[in-house]
Amino acid sequence: MLVFHAGMLRLLAFASIAGASIDFTSLPPHPRLMFTDKRVQAVLSMSETDLYYQNVLGYLEKTANTAIETPLSLSSSSSWSSTIRLNVGATAGMYRLTNDTAYSDWVIETILTVTDLPDWNPSNFLNTADITMTVSLGYDWVYDELTEAQREAIETAMAEKSFVPALNSSINSWSEHTNNWAQVTHGCLIIGTLAVGDVNETLANQIIDFSVPKLQVSLEQYAPDGGWIEGYSYGTYAGIFLGLMMGSLDSALGSDLGISSLSGMQNLGAWLTHGFGQTGGFSWADGAWTFSNANSLWSVGYWATRFNQAGWLQGMLSRFTAAQAATFQAFLFYNATLNTTNVLSDMPRYEQFENVAGMTYRTSWTNSNGWFYGFMGGYNGRSHGHLDAGSFVIDYKGYRWAELLGSDSYSLTNYFVAPRRWTYYRCRSEGANTLSISDTAQTALHFANQIPSANNSLLWAGSFDSSSRFGVANLTEAYSNVTTSVLRGVGVLNDSQFIVRDEIIAPEAVDIAASWHTTADITLGTDNRTATLVQGDITMEITLLLPLNAHLELVDTNPCNAYTSCSEMTNNGIYNVAVRLPSLTTEATILLALAEPGATIDEFNHPLTTWYSLCTVDCWKGENVEDPYWLQDAETYY
Ligand SMILES: *[C@@H]1O[C@H](CO)[C@@H](O)[C@H](O)[C@H]1NC(C)=O
Ligand SMILES: *[C@@H]1O[C@H](CO)[C@@H](O)[C@H](O)[C@H]1NC(C)=O
Ligand SMILES: *[C@@H]1O[C@H](CO)[C@@H](O)[C@H](O)[C@H]1NC(C)=O
Ligand SMILES: *[C@@H]1O[C@H](CO)[C@@H](O)[C@H](O)[C@H]1NC(C)=O
Ligand SMILES: *[C@@H]1O[C@H](CO)[C@@H](O)[C@H](O)[C@H]1NC(C)=O
Ligand SMILES: *[C@@H]1O[C@H](CO)[C@@H](O)[C@H](O)[C@H]1NC(C)=O
Ligand SMILES: *[C@@H]1O[C@H](CO)[C@@H](O)[C@H](O)[C@H]1NC(C)=O
Ligand SMILES: *[C@@H]1O[C@H](CO)[C@@H](O)[C@H](O)[C@H]1NC(C)=O
Ligand SMILES: *[C@@H]1O[C@H](CO)[C@@H](O)[C@H](O)[C@H]1NC(C)=O
Ligand SMILES: *[C@@H]1O[C@H](CO)[C@@H](O)[C@H](O)[C@H]1NC(C)=O
Repeated sequence: MLVFHAGMLRLLAFASIAGASIDFTSLPPHPRLMFTDKRVQAVLSMSETDLYYQNVLGYLEKTANTAIETPLSLSSSSSWSSTIRLNVGATAGMYRLTNDTAYSDWVIETILTVTDLPDWNPSNFLNTADITMTVSLGYDWVYDELTEAQREAIETAMAEKSFVPALNSSINSWSEHTNNWAQVTHGCLIIGTLAVGDVNETLANQIIDFSVPKLQVSLEQYAPDGGWIEGYSYGTYAGIFLGLMMGSLDSALGSDLGISSLSGMQNLGAWLTHGFGQTGGFSWADGAWTFSNANSLWSVGYWATRFNQAGWLQGMLSRFTAAQAATFQAFLFYNATLNTTNVLSDMPRYEQFENVAGMTYRTSWTNSNGWFYGFMGGYNGRSHGHLDAGSFVIDYKGYRWAELLGSDSYSLTNYFVAPRRWTYYRCRSEGANTLSISDTAQTALHFANQIPSANNSLLWAGSFDSSSRFGVANLTEAYSNVTTSVLRGVGVLNDSQFIVRDEIIAPEAVDIAASWHTTADITLGTDNRTATLVQGDITMEITLLLPLNAHLELVDTNPCNAYTSCSEMTNNGIYNVAVRLPSLTTEATILLALAEPGATIDEFNHPLTTWYSLCTVDCWKGENVEDPYWLQDAETYY
């Protein structure tokens, strides 16, 4: 019999890309980073018949035409912005499509301006990395138009301002990050070696030996389902660079070093696609949920082609206008074949991800009048994490009715250091859409926190019928110092109402409060058991069904009313409609519904432990994960 121990499981779970080596002497000629002659031909040929793509390319042409009117003004690398990357990508890309030197002239001028900067801001290596990638793409795509002297200047800057500082152990502590930093920094360094590695193979190989094993540690966290623990917007940020790195490896080496075979990688595209609702992402922790363009989501295009998933590409594109989709990645990752036959009506409307203990559901991919919700158990206290396990977000008819607030300023004192982090409203449990449970009566702005190191699994997900999808999370670890069991279930019933049900059992009487944040205009009903929420021309009603003696309360969301010398955001216009119980108790069931006024509310009064047995379609059982092996190397705040 084989006896597995943790170390062996780890080896089985993680295929390795470390030890990969690249023969930089046999790189193909430029352009070799994604926008190769073959891809140019594919773009031109797709645009002949695909009106939508013509439209997107038209917007990219406008972006490039606007960019070339103004020389880049950048006096310091610390003022770098992603707009420069997007403009260089759009303009260098237009040069590839047209051979028009008005575009390449601007690209050359721009990357030489960057090349001439005294440094590439190695003390914030996220900037160095972005600059490295931007210069790499510019250099590679306009290579034919560069003089020998210009090429050398760029190659030297890449070595001196990116590679050598990256390897300098007195200033590269960033390199140990196992969060989104790894995909950005190591991903861009690898792209850099593919651009210029043939001029100094020794140095390029040092970067590969340095970056690949560190990147691998971060990539392990996609196992086994493809979700990303830092939440949606950091997932997309890491995805930008990961997708571009993978595309560059494919085109320059004809292989991705085995990265797409790592556990979870085959499903990252599903997580990015399913995690995007009607109004934005299902972002938890420090992440924001609004996206003004598709830049951060275009890696979905890469994954869609890589794994032949038309639904991912269509699911993502259908959330954006053609103008918003027109970032330079559209040159690289659009695939007309995958956008020919509309598959959205047959696409699964829900998905769950054990590795982030999260799930999403939507009424429809095509009708924006339905529901979208995201719900997570959550593994607290990891990189950028908040104490928000059990939180949900809800979109309905084009508005977000329950939202998570994202981060406060990263420059607040010890924002990234426990225990101070857990004093900030937006990082605390009260600032999320979840329960606060205490052995004493709680007052607003002082609700109790969850335990930072708690691992809270998604236990079950499934459908009662084709328009009723639920999920149940086990939040027991998060409150294990005051309770014996805490379960939360949420679901949409018959596509007409959302419900959230909590079941709490405690050894000694506890005070329980359940928070729900919204920016809707909100008024409580006279009995304080309903709340009316209004956004635009849509009105929704929250009804408190259980316990019968509980009430809703609009509790203060401004932390500066609680602490002196507060520098936090004051959360103006953000309401917390919280469920409050009349007294401390050892056992409680809380049940809330959200529906349009006048809808018949189905109380659905079934204990959470029976929900799985009521499932009829696509029933899913998760593990009760107490020690998520894929997070062993995650950064933590506990
Ligand atoms: C651009 O130049 C290349 C190399 O000379 C050529 O193969 C390609 O057809 C040209 N593309 C266009 C759109 O003129
Ligand atoms: C490494 O960085 C330190 C601090 O900036 C600097 O003094 C040193 O010269 C650098 N070493 C190399 C090899 O560049
Ligand atoms: C390659 O880079 C290393 C490290 O910067 C440097 O010592 C070496 O001289 C370079 N080799 C060439 C051929 O430029
Ligand atoms: C589109 O995706 C399919 C499926 O993965 C792939 O076979 C095809 O080569 C892709 N086409 C382009 C232009 O990338
Ligand atoms: C491709 O996707 C866009 C965006 O969702 C859509 O508007 C367009 O109709 C699709 N193109 C085709 C040929 O289906
Ligand atoms: C339980 O743990 C939370 C989070 O660490 C803490 O805020 C709370 O005070 C603890 N409660 C008790 C009764 O120890
Ligand atoms: C919930 O988690 C706790 C602690 O990990 C565990 O003891 C309990 O059995 C779990 N409950 C269910 C219903 O799985
Ligand atoms: C959906 O509606 C039907 C008809 O009213 C009802 O029988 C069924 O129980 C409802 N489903 C759920 C999950 O409430
Ligand atoms: C509802 O809450 C308000 C504000 O706390 C309070 O003044 C009012 O008495 C409550 N109404 C009932 C019926 O409890
Ligand atoms: C949660 O899982 C991590 C492993 O990722 C483990 O180190 C930690 O102890 C677990 N937390 C609890 C409260 O068991």
